[in-house]
Amino acid sequence: MNNVFKLLDRLEAEHCLTLDEYEALINGLSKETADYAAKKAVKARQAVYGNDVYIRGLIEISNICKNDCYYCGIRNSNKKCERYRLTKEDILDSAAEGYSLGFRTFVLQGGEDAKFTDTFLVDVIKNLKALYPECAITLSLGERSKESYKALRDAGADRYLLRHETADKEHYEKLHPQNMSFENRMECLKNLKDLGYQVGCGFMVGSPFQTSRTLAKDLKFIEEFAPAMCGIGPYLTHKDTPFSNMPSGSLELTLYLLSIIRLIDPTLLLPATTALGTIHPKGREMGILAGANVVMPNLSPISVRKKYELYDNKICTGDEAAECKVCLTKRIESVGYKIVTARGDRLTNSNSE
Ligand code: SAM
Ligand code: FES
Repeated sequence: MNNVFKLLDRLEAEHCLTLDEYEALINGLSKETADYAAKKAVKARQAVYGNDVYIRGLIEISNICKNDCYYCGIRNSNKKCERYRLTKEDILDSAAEGYSLGFRTFVLQGGEDAKFTDTFLVDVIKNLKALYPECAITLSLGERSKESYKALRDAGADRYLLRHETADKEHYEKLHPQNMSFENRMECLKNLKDLGYQVGCGFMVGSPFQTSRTLAKDLKFIEEFAPAMCGIGPYLTHKDTPFSNMPSGSLELTLYLLSIIRLIDPTLLLPATTALGTIHPKGREMGILAGANVVMPNLSPISVRKKYELYDNKICTGDEAAECKVCLTKRIESVGYKIVTARGDRLTNSNSE
């Protein structure tokens, strides 16, 4: 156990460990080691971001998807999922509401919907950029060709979130059908980086067949790929998927990994995710206290929120949803942090002063 504290000291100082050491760190999770890691993570984040927490307005633009990821509630084969797609006007309306609430980043997320052609997306991005030049646009629309990513980048998209899901090929193949490939996912991430996007990777904690070894590979991948953002949250079971019998991931391990990832890179944009808020009523606050520095309130029209159900019991889908920003602001303030109205780009240690 002593060794785990030493590994955390080394990670704080050097920001890297070997694969075996990451695995030992994960196996060494206890109340004491988690507290120790969180304390260091908060210190590291504080040095770069102070008490600031960035917000992103999440607009879930379609739940139509050609893929069949075994864990995902909006997978193509889920015939019980009621499908929707926002129009350009819906997206612009959601952004306008978000702008007036103080959002300076819009995240357009959705399934791999064939109707989202480059022409359609370029038009939406250009409109958003013309209306709100000081805002950042993040896309999270899955795997596309390099040409497509380039067209969207040229139109003005700043950031792209594409969780790698797992850095272990065999594990990847247990989570996805044969027509999806680990190599293509990794190639997409590389292409996005080459095109100058601020790239986000990430994974679900406790996804079926995950082991401490596959998690160690995720950590090594994050260390080496050096993304600008990293989205992690617990895997949560959805009743209408092939994994309906698989248990959800744990709050404790997610928080511990947030702290470890913060120590790998103190400048990372690290969200306390909706899945974390779903697994525990105070999950997002706990995420901030473990080292996260971003929250992503939902800006989607209330009428579609319930339909973007990646997992059971997702929060912020009822009538109270219009209050997402107010509610999150209060929650963040309750633990001593403050939400800022800013694009919220990644800072480095030197430009944070
Ligand atoms: N289609 C895009 C993509 O593939 O990146 C974006 C949408 S996808 C639903 C966004 C993320 O939701 C996935 O990367 C996955 O990690 C997460 N997700 C899907 N099903 C989940 C579940 N059952 N529990 C927790 N997270 C889940
Ligand atoms: Fe495509 Fe989940 S299977 S978004």
